Amino acid sequence: MINEILKLKEKKKAIILAHNYQFPEIQDIADFVGDSLELSRKAKEVKDAKIIVFCGVKFMAETAKILSPEKKVLIPEIDAGCPLADMADYDEVIEIKNKYPNAWVVSYVNTNATVKAISDVCCTSGNAEKVVRNIPAKKIVFLPDRNLCWYVKQKISDKEIICWDGYCYVHQKFTIDDIKQVKEKFPDAEVIVHPECAPEIQKIADGIYSTSGMLKRVKNSNSRKFIIGTEEGIIHRLKKENPDKEFYSLGQPKVCFDMKKITLEKLKISLEEEKYEINLDEKIIENARKALERMLEPGSER
Ligand code: 13P
Ligand code: SF4
Repeated sequence: MINEILKLKEKKKAIILAHNYQFPEIQDIADFVGDSLELSRKAKEVKDAKIIVFCGVKFMAETAKILSPEKKVLIPEIDAGCPLADMADYDEVIEIKNKYPNAWVVSYVNTNATVKAISDVCCTSGNAEKVVRNIPAKKIVFLPDRNLCWYVKQKISDKEIICWDGYCYVHQKFTIDDIKQVKEKFPDAEVIVHPECAPEIQKIADGIYSTSGMLKRVKNSNSRKFIIGTEEGIIHRLKKENPDKEFYSLGQPKVCFDMKKITLEKLKISLEEEKYEINLDEKIIENARKALERMLEPGSER
């Protein structure tokens, strides 16, 4: 299967991009693995490939299409969505924009393309603080993740930030008990969590990072043991890149079922049949691209 995928990839001049939560075998066959910010940058930079196959969830593949509209962008499973992204409904976003006409709308990349198209700027978990800090407006509507919004509010006090009430069901599952138990069992371990975790989890963790931020933290830390508070798929890369360190899930491993809808078999079919292609309205691409490019401007990097 792996050989067939590699042959097809070469024949079709395709590049495979994969998110840090993908199954290990998908990560291992991908040309590039990263967090949402790195994957957005990569999708924008891709020059020679004709096709981008995006192994992740739909908003990520849409982001790749918006940033590289001349490329054919495929996702191996069209039903790999993000329930958090679906919590920001287009009509409700229009409503809040009308309610706060002077506010800037900051959309986490975990939003659908139609919502990006009516946003002022996008951000990821890796650069949310920097993006919000650089905004000229004093009033901000931040959507859709209330926990990432809370994280940003802790860092920035000179702006009024209105948080949308969305959350990620995967990160919402971490509990204070998970942290207490793990701290008792591994008192010398560093607890690192994603900013999509609830505020009470963020408050008692040792550090808060995007998925690739966790990889950097682990590399630079003197700790030998780490407790990981995010989707369990990241542990494959953490172990692979740090064979001398130990990694444990925070409580029972947490799984994003949509991320796990992508399999090697579906990746092969995707390349063979060139499906499922991401097609977006030109106007949506044009408007959403402004919000995404503003996020990628120098100074907004993590
Ligand atoms: P990262 O950008 O940190 O990889 O997060 C994406 C995501 O969907 C987290 O649930
Ligand atoms: Fe969406 Fe949560 Fe899955 Fe990330 S982990 S893709 S936010 S459902």
